Amino acid sequence: MKKNDIKPFDLWKETMQRMGRDGLLLCTVGSDGKPNAMNVAWLTGGLIWGRPIITVLVRTDRHSFNNIEQTNQFTVNVLTSEFADALLYLGTASGASEDKFAKSKLTPVPAQVVEPPLIAEAVVHYECRVLHKNDVIAENLTPDINGFGANHRVYFGEIVAASAAPDAAKRLE
Ligand SMILES: Cc1cc2nc3c(=O)[nH]c(=O)nc-3n(C[C@H](O)[C@H](O)[C@H](O)COP(=O)(O)O)c2cc1C
Repeated sequence: MKKNDIKPFDLWKETMQRMGRDGLLLCTVGSDGKPNAMNVAWLTGGLIWGRPIITVLVRTDRHSFNNIEQTNQFTVNVLTSEFADALLYLGTASGASEDKFAKSKLTPVPAQVVEPPLIAEAVVHYECRVLHKNDVIAENLTPDINGFGANHRVYFGEIVAASAAPDAAKRLE
């Protein structure tokens, strides 16, 4: 289905609802040109430096981590609950050892601005380029977190394009 350009946070409430249920898909590509998708739920959005930013935390042992390090770009894709099984698979298998796009039967398609692909079956897409990154520092975490998530890198991605299916809000209800 054809997608229309939207403003970065037009469908943010719907995006957060899907993130809280089955997760979202982060797409990356390595310098070998192979695309990968992984489930993400440690993600926030807002204005920083006067720009629309998606902040995502990626553990440093993920295949997706290696890819982002190579391109400094990623896309975030919102799928309906119909794809819950694929979301779970993409959140448990690693692109380091298998072609996750082939196995999930989801379709990578070119993005408008960035190198990593979008997922054709998604109803909302965000295209991001990394403006800043840093690591979660174990000793700076409040004690009640117990060091959980210390081995993640935080990427601040400017949303350089966003698009959605015309009926996205309805399909994400
Ligand atoms: C619902 C859900 C949310 C997840 N959120 C994140 C996340 O925000 N950051 C992260 O590093 N891993 C997260 N994961 C784990 C990765 O998706 C998982 O380890 C995946 O297999 C990594 O794939 P890759 O090695 O192909 O990059 C999540 C998994 C699930 C199922």
